[in-house]
Amino acid sequence: MKLRRALLYTPGDSRPKIEKALSLGADSICMDMEDGTAYNRKEKARKTISLALKEFNFGASEKLIRINGIGSGLEEDDLTETVIHHPDGVVLPKVESFEQLEWLSERIEEMELSQGWDLNKIRVLAVIESAKGFINLREIATHPRLDALIFGAEDYAASIGATRTRGGLEILYARSKLVMHAAVNDLQAIDVVFVNFKDSVNLKIDALLGAQMGFTGKQIVHPNQVLPVQEAFSPSNAEIDYAQRLLSAFKIAEAEGAGAIDFEGKMIDMPLVKSARLVIERATLAGKIE
Ligand code: COA
Ligand code: MG
Repeated sequence: MKLRRALLYTPGDSRPKIEKALSLGADSICMDMEDGTAYNRKEKARKTISLALKEFNFGASEKLIRINGIGSGLEEDDLTETVIHHPDGVVLPKVESFEQLEWLSERIEEMELSQGWDLNKIRVLAVIESAKGFINLREIATHPRLDALIFGAEDYAASIGATRTRGGLEILYARSKLVMHAAVNDLQAIDVVFVNFKDSVNLKIDALLGAQMGFTGKQIVHPNQVLPVQEAFSPSNAEIDYAQRLLSAFKIAEAEGAGAIDFEGKMIDMPLVKSARLVIERATLAGKIE
């Protein structure tokens, strides 16, 4: 599965911003037709995105499009006008049921069949951002075309009548619940946007918190957010080194029949070994080790 540490939204109606996004090294570029595009610019966004998919070289960045939510009346045209240019994936906002993903997946499949494309290559990422979406997350998260769950914190807070605070306690339950459902279905979990895009200090704190909570990446809205977020979601050199030392010590102990060992003064057993393996897997995906 494609690594998505930094998922950058770029307004779909802005050709200069899409062009700029290509030079930033973001893991994923999501050209937005939903809330990043004004209501009277939706048609313009579809055309701009179509041209971008046709003409631009995205290099190593993944090409995503975000359509408007199901029931908005815009979703069908958003999809048919842009998916014909074969993005790598579709981000569906305001997902509240399994059936909504099924609707999207069927339409993508029709396109795959009529165009002779490989089946299931165009992946879907679902934004969960309402109380109802969280209540139905158990079914939603099992959809076979899904690669990732994305947490939309601002819409979620509005849906439950919460006030956003710097500490974020009001979103903690949902934020954590999303990680749990992603983990059980082998999906990526993509964390909240940090909207104060000029505040790099608190962006780093928020990104690290997300990584510690188990998220695999984060949504971003500004070029300055790419590098700090990629760094937060890649294991540090010290973490990689520690994981490698731990795994070799455990391998030796295991061969000698020990299940738990004293490793540098700390008790190590299987759960910590699993975490260390995950660090190595993520470091490999991030290109930090071979
Ligand atoms: N993608 C690509 N390029 C972006 C960008 C983005 N998300 N945000 C800013 N840029 C570009 C600007 O166009 C500018 O380019 P230039 O130097 O070549 O002129 C440069 O980065 C610096 O931008 P800056 O002047 O600091 O910000 P801005 O005032 O142009 O834009 C926002 C601020 C918030 C409007 C802009 O960051 C944005 O549109 N973000 C995405 C919003 C979105 O999609 N929301 C929906 C999802 S939550
Ligand atoms: Mg939203």
